[in-house]
Amino acid sequence: MRKINIAIDGYSACGKSSTAKALSFWLQYVYIDSGSMYRAVTLFFLKNYINFNNPKEIKEALDKIQLDFYYHDGKRKHEIYLNGLNVEDEIRKMYVTDKVGEVSAIVDVRRALVRQQQKLGKKRGVVMDGRDIGTVVFPDAELKIFMTADIEVRAHRRQKELLEMGEMVEFEAVLENLRKRDKIDETRVEGPLIQAPDAHFMDTTHMTLEEQMEEMLNLYTTEIVEKALVKN
Ligand code: C5P
Repeated sequence: MRKINIAIDGYSACGKSSTAKALSFWLQYVYIDSGSMYRAVTLFFLKNYINFNNPKEIKEALDKIQLDFYYHDGKRKHEIYLNGLNVEDEIRKMYVTDKVGEVSAIVDVRRALVRQQQKLGKKRGVVMDGRDIGTVVFPDAELKIFMTADIEVRAHRRQKELLEMGEMVEFEAVLENLRKRDKIDETRVEGPLIQAPDAHFMDTTHMTLEEQMEEMLNLYTTEIVEKALVKN
């Protein structure tokens, strides 16, 4: 089968990354978590005391940032490196999560990262998840999925993930962070979180992870494999 690009967009903690990872594994595609790139830039800005409101400082900082993905055999996924350092775990911490919404609303940050994401998808065979993948990064992706879930369910899932990483955060604080990020993501001018008109909608509120993965695979089979067979 000819390789395609798959765009998975949607709200935080509704199952995007787990299902995208599984799909990329089945298809032997590269999985890219675009959120990790916004998180790594946020980490750099915080560590270097960059003023989020100073365009000159931001431009200079972006020139100093090198982001790479390297495959981790044990975890069967690509991990992100910021200027040569693996920051995969650090960027998930709450102090980064608290600021990533603000940083990802900065136009220069978005333009720099979208350019890099488009390069990663040039040869196709990529599953990328994020907020604007089907609308801005790969508007020509052959398969697009838009995911959502009830905010309280998402907060429970995120709280559990944080706990598994050893960070205990109050449910209300997780909920508030999601609310804040949703609002920033939905209302920013550049690359807002919206469903692409040709994306398949998936509400995971009452779905287990297995059901979500099954649904993804079904979509790939019906939308890509069966249609290719009919064409030939
Ligand atoms: O996916 P994750 O929750 O890790 O993403 C972190 C943040 O990065 C999101 O809250 C969003 O503000 C930003 N983001 C974005 N565009 C993307 C991916 C993530 O603005 N394509």
